Amino acid sequence: MTRNLLFVGGGIETLPGLTLAHGMGLRVLVSDRNPQAPCMAVADVALIADTYDGAATIQALKDAGERPDGVVCLGTDVPLTVALVARAFDLVSVSYQTARIAMDKLAMKDRFKERGVPIPWYAPVTSTDHLRELIAAEGFPLVIKPVDSRGARGVTRLTEDGDPDWAYACAESFSPTRRVMAERYLSGPQISTESLVVNGKVYTPGFSDRNYEFLDRYAPFFIENGGDLPGSLPEETRRAVKELAAEAARALDVRNGVVKGDLVVSEGTPYVIEAAVRMSGGYFCTHTIPKSTGVELVRHAIHLALGDKVDENALIPVRENPVCQRYLFPEPGRVIEIEGLERVRRDPAVFYLELRVKPGDVIAPIQNHPGRAGVLMTTGATAEEARANARRAVETIQIKTTPQ
Ligand SMILES: Nc1ncnc2c1ncn2[C@@H]1O[C@H](COP(=O)(O)OP(=O)(O)O)[C@@H](O)[C@H]1O
Ligand SMILES: [Mg+2]
Repeated sequence: MTRNLLFVGGGIETLPGLTLAHGMGLRVLVSDRNPQAPCMAVADVALIADTYDGAATIQALKDAGERPDGVVCLGTDVPLTVALVARAFDLVSVSYQTARIAMDKLAMKDRFKERGVPIPWYAPVTSTDHLRELIAAEGFPLVIKPVDSRGARGVTRLTEDGDPDWAYACAESFSPTRRVMAERYLSGPQISTESLVVNGKVYTPGFSDRNYEFLDRYAPFFIENGGDLPGSLPEETRRAVKELAAEAARALDVRNGVVKGDLVVSEGTPYVIEAAVRMSGGYFCTHTIPKSTGVELVRHAIHLALGDKVDENALIPVRENPVCQRYLFPEPGRVIEIEGLERVRRDPAVFYLELRVKPGDVIAPIQNHPGRAGVLMTTGATAEEARANARRAVETIQIKTTPQ
């Protein structure tokens, strides 16, 4: 009998996951508030429901007479809705409690602290006066962020010459509950991991050096410019980071599910910045991880969600091919023309290119990750070659803008 898989959220980055699910012979349901969301037209069943609203999602399923056999989210940070749907239909997912903690950076940090997982110093901030007291006690640099947002929205680095009032207001404006927190800024290489937890055993095929070469250009915002797989950290450090990602997954009590980690290696020691209980965005799980390692993470995550037996051997990388992913950052303004696309499309080193802007669009100054104008991915015989190929492709694509 054909089984039903629900994707909560139908954005563009979810689309390859949906295609894969179709290839697995599944009937695909997608829920999204937006009927025009990219996955809606290709889904077997499109349900209109806010991805953050678990009750509405369950109601939409019931109204449509649908019963999912599995529920996942990919590139959307909605584990609470996934957990609620899973509970309502008796499916495999992280628990409601785990999802709740993962959606609240303070609750998550409290949990990590309680379980001895290394994290930066942190504290809730209740007002700008309170922030000043914290600065007096802890010094600079700090990171000020909303307790419950995502995509680096409202996250800024606060240094001596920064404006605490502005940083507080910026973070607050992106928190649905108006809650702000501060953390010690930890310098050092940043890493993305993606793990699959199968009956409590953690596998981490996803490992990428996050590229922050634009840290200063876009300061005080944190704008990641892409990632490199398998990255350039020594094997020993990589092992320590993967072990910490596993510790984070265990601390969140994930027994079966996906954990996406943001970690930093500061002065040789790995720390967890956060862990999300969902499949990654940015085509990490759908493109770069499989390309680099041979592990089809999404396929296994879907099997896990369906309650199938997961082939655990298939979660261990069979290779470590250099893969480089880079975002496009045109100058702000109105797009007048875009050149070089054909040349880049013909480049055999480029295996993915997606442009998110077209002539006539207005590009705002970049302040968070959803604001990026496009993405491409390359391979190469060596990490350096993959990076050079990406650099060349990024330079070839000329997105010309006029200042507004
Ligand atoms: N304490 C920190 N030290 C260093 N960098 C940080 C710290 N906190 C956040 N960042 C940077 O800011 C980015 C966004 O912050 P994060 O807490 O992951 O929020 P989001 O949920 O929006 O991704 C991180 O990926 C990281 O690059
Ligand atoms: Mg993050």
